[in-house]
Amino acid sequence: MLFLYHLPEDILYLVLSYLDCQTLNSLSQVCKKMYNFTSRDVVWKRIAKECINSGITQEGRDIFPRIPLKDRVKISQNWRRGRCRKEAVLKWKNNLLPWMQLDGGVLYLSQAADIRAYQLRTDGRGLQRKPVAVYSGHREDVCRFIMTESHLISAGVDGKIILHQKQGSFSMEYSAHNQEVNCIDSKGGVIVSGSRDRTARVWSLSSNRLGECLHTIPTLDRVWSLAISPSQSSFVTGTACCGHVASLRIWDVESCQLLTCLGTDFRRGAGVLDVVYESPSTLLSCGYDTFIRYWDVRASTRKCVMEWEEPHDSALYCIQSDSNHMIASGSSYYGVVRLWDKRQTRCLQTFSLSSPTSSPVYCLRFNSTHLYAALASALYALDFKGLDSRGRK
Ligand SMILES: *[C@@H]1O[C@H](CO)[C@@H](O)[C@H](O)[C@H]1NC(C)=O
Ligand SMILES: *[C@@H]1O[C@H](CO)[C@@H](O)[C@H](O)[C@H]1NC(C)=O
Repeated sequence: MLFLYHLPEDILYLVLSYLDCQTLNSLSQVCKKMYNFTSRDVVWKRIAKECINSGITQEGRDIFPRIPLKDRVKISQNWRRGRCRKEAVLKWKNNLLPWMQLDGGVLYLSQAADIRAYQLRTDGRGLQRKPVAVYSGHREDVCRFIMTESHLISAGVDGKIILHQKQGSFSMEYSAHNQEVNCIDSKGGVIVSGSRDRTARVWSLSSNRLGECLHTIPTLDRVWSLAISPSQSSFVTGTACCGHVASLRIWDVESCQLLTCLGTDFRRGAGVLDVVYESPSTLLSCGYDTFIRYWDVRASTRKCVMEWEEPHDSALYCIQSDSNHMIASGSSYYGVVRLWDKRQTRCLQTFSLSSPTSSPVYCLRFNSTHLYAALASALYALDFKGLDSRGRK
């Protein structure tokens, strides 16, 4: 034991980084000095990468560098075991189709034609009930919206896209599509929008060409979801699967040429409701056919590399991943949120947020300690942090 103290520090950290959780925890109780050594992030990185939602991505990037890894490994056990405190943190009267984005310490939530920004509480107990900002301008409901560094960009049932400055009052409105704009994304100086009018459009975001439509792609099918690749050179559209075209297609951002179709045998009506990239070559999709699919375009565009089936045969409205092992999905009935570990086929945890009444989970977002789920008439928070100290007396 003593020999450990005589090792050069970097060698000590290297040795410690090969120990398992339990051994590290035992060692940390030996003395103050060992406690200090075993609290360092370098010691926990290898373990954290194997944990769900620890904030370490597949490529080893750290998403939540301000929270010690040792703590995140502990919280990860709560996610795995489904230990959390559930609470409806906001409720409203009419049934809506809300959408959300988490941006640092702020949760943006669309409620009918407006988007409200709610500050997350620093004590971890949900959010401040009074919004810190309201973004309006749509004449009908907001379908989806996204955040960039400086802007919030929303898409509405009224066929419009509105570009709001996050801080400040500047906003600009485009008459973007003939019918509702179901989905939108923005990266690398462009906005891409998809609509019920069976087109996807690419818009310039450069200041001298703001609001200019660069391309219109006839998709021959209603567009429900889309995402721009992290490489910024292509984007994927998820469509209704009503025509004779594949429901997942990848397009070149510059030329708007079709690059590839994903999959071969989608059933009619198996529309894709959400699609998210994890890396330039990997993406997740879900929708009416009740499967989550993981695609790796390096391996195959004809077959997905992994798939997970919703056990109750419900449509899947939304997904999010931790860019490593965990996926969270929202189902169409009883506010069912599921957590999945990509390394196993069965779902890891199930939370039913709107039983006995039924609502779809329209959108979900999570950070390292909380998961937010937006249902027809309420926003729920699941708190996975420190149940022992607060939840259970
Ligand atoms: C470990 O020691 C360093 C240097 O003495 C100190 O800055 C740091 O806060 C300590 N960390 C813990 C977790 O005690
Ligand atoms: C996650 O959300 C909680 C509560 O809403 C908040 O207190 C916490 O700071 C957030 N964590 C991060 C890393 O943003």
